[in-house]
Amino acid sequence: MPINKLETKNKTTNEKKVVLITGAAQGIGFATVKKFLKEGWAVAATDIKKKELDERVKALTAEGYDITGYVLDVTKYNQDKKVVDQIVKKYGRIDALFNNAGIVGHRPTILNFDPKLIHQAEEVNLWAGLYLAQLVGRVFVEKKIKGSIVNVSSLAASFVDWSPFGYGISKAAVDGFTRAAAFHLGKYGIRVNSVAPGYTKTEMAIKYDYSNPKLRKAAESKTLLNRWIEPSEIANAVYFLSSDEASAITGAKLPVDAGYTTTKESNLKSIYDEDN
Ligand SMILES: NC(=O)c1ccc[n+]([C@@H]2O[C@H](COP(=O)([O-])OP(=O)(O)OC[C@H]3O[C@@H](n4cnc5c(N)ncnc54)[C@H](O)[C@@H]3O)[C@@H](O)[C@H]2O)c1
Repeated sequence: MPINKLETKNKTTNEKKVVLITGAAQGIGFATVKKFLKEGWAVAATDIKKKELDERVKALTAEGYDITGYVLDVTKYNQDKKVVDQIVKKYGRIDALFNNAGIVGHRPTILNFDPKLIHQAEEVNLWAGLYLAQLVGRVFVEKKIKGSIVNVSSLAASFVDWSPFGYGISKAAVDGFTRAAAFHLGKYGIRVNSVAPGYTKTEMAIKYDYSNPKLRKAAESKTLLNRWIEPSEIANAVYFLSSDEASAITGAKLPVDAGYTTTKESNLKSIYDEDN
């Protein structure tokens, strides 16, 4: 879908803020790419999927947007370092990191998990993001940039449902990462927050939940708004947290879940079978 062009598109490279987005080729990552571009930022879009990333970057470049694609498997730490260096070389700065790349990984129960596979989700969702926060945090400090980092938590960080428990563990740990990074980086004016999406209509969710009518219904019926979330709605929250509008917000987790966690926490719907 074409994105609205604003006059900010014409900013020169060194007037622009620069955001590094991981997992940018589809889903929440790609929606966030479009949001930042629309707001006049330059985007360093990274993903493990070369073909999809190249196609998206080519199309947006043809529309006149300032976007550069970098093929990156975030779990390959030498690649992370190389890409961060390349971005700094090209733009001279980084103002925001969106640690979005994520996988569901191994889907067993406690009784049958494979100890060799249970780390899959953590590798991508937690450790890779943590290392990128170190690399980009060092750029912020070195260049005296009061930058922002946004991580992706989840409903699965707060409670167990049909989501794989290894995924839930990784997202609960992301909450700890967000708090620790906010604590360590606050003295430099660097903010670290997370968004906690509810069930969002992306390739990941369509594959696992949305395509199963029972889970699709169950997910929407647990929300106050009785619906799934659009990737663009997560992107808006990520942009807000990354922008100066959120200048006093750090160490926070922002649920973007149509009220799913509110009902879980109050258990309202399971106690009262009423409309309000
Ligand atoms: N969709 C939801 O309902 C939902 C809910 C809560 C949290 N989340 C989280 O939101 C984030 C984005 O999820 P999504 O729904 O857009 O998923 P998605 O599968 O549609 O997109 C994820 C992207 O990450 C990329 N990726 C995967 N492994 C990678 C790696 N090792 N290195 C680099 N890139 C890699 C994929 O290629 C893909 O482009 C994830 O962290 C996910 O856990 C999603």
